[in-house]
Amino acid sequence: MTETSRPVQELDYGPRGRVHIFADAEALAAAAADTFAEITSAAVTTRGRAYVALSGGSTPKRMGEMLATKLFRDRIPWESVEVFWGDERWVPEESSESNSGVAKRAFLDQVPIPPSRVNPFPTTVPDPETAAIMYATQLRTVFGETDGVPRFDLVLLGMGDDGHTASLFPGTAAIHETEALVVAHLVPKLGATRLTLTPPVLNAGREVIFLVGGGGKAETLAAVLEGPEKVDELPSQVIRPTDGRLTWLVDCAAAARLTPLSGAISG
Ligand code: 6PG
Repeated sequence: MTETSRPVQELDYGPRGRVHIFADAEALAAAAADTFAEITSAAVTTRGRAYVALSGGSTPKRMGEMLATKLFRDRIPWESVEVFWGDERWVPEESSESNSGVAKRAFLDQVPIPPSRVNPFPTTVPDPETAAIMYATQLRTVFGETDGVPRFDLVLLGMGDDGHTASLFPGTAAIHETEALVVAHLVPKLGATRLTLTPPVLNAGREVIFLVGGGGKAETLAAVLEGPEKVDELPSQVIRPTDGRLTWLVDCAAAARLTPLSGAISG
């Protein structure tokens, strides 16, 4: 971890994960970029390939911009990195709403990753259900998994102020999906269709990392980490890696309401 991306405090919430708290949004983005570089390099060294699931939303945008700078770009073995997304909106890639479109414009188009290793959701097919089936097939093909659950080296997630993550929104059945790898569903509160990886895939990750910034998330983050388990209201609580590590990279503003149960580790 470079000096710029050292946490000011770390908290341990046991199965709910470890929390690294950074001074502000810029330090948070630098830490996320640093973590991305470390995990992908280690995965390629160990297993010859690094499988990454990117999150959508606005928080990871600055991390992406940093990944395209010389400070980070040359640390990453892009030719061996395989990129997927944890979720997607049912919009064309040209849309400003498109998670893959935003990521490509923010950094993937500026780094030497082979286009064949960038796997956006197919949002140009006739219907979202077909897209979900196709994406699950793409996952199995790229991972070489016939019937197991693909295991990402890095799953990046965001958290909404309503406690959703990926496109697992409160009150949706996708929270409890145990078989399908990918689900397409209409999200009532959005009045929009979303595509999402399901908990079995997200929880199979070796490193599952939430990126949460801003005071608007503080109350929800405290409820997710310290409150009672209620995954239908706070779907982020369904993220419990089965054989991986769960880490929250947050800024001070998002951490403002945390009252550490286990006491600070450092900082
Ligand atoms: C999406 C995301 C979603 C996002 C959270 C946080 O498609 O919107 O995948 O889960 O990570 O809504 O979004 P912000 O980073 O914009 O707060």
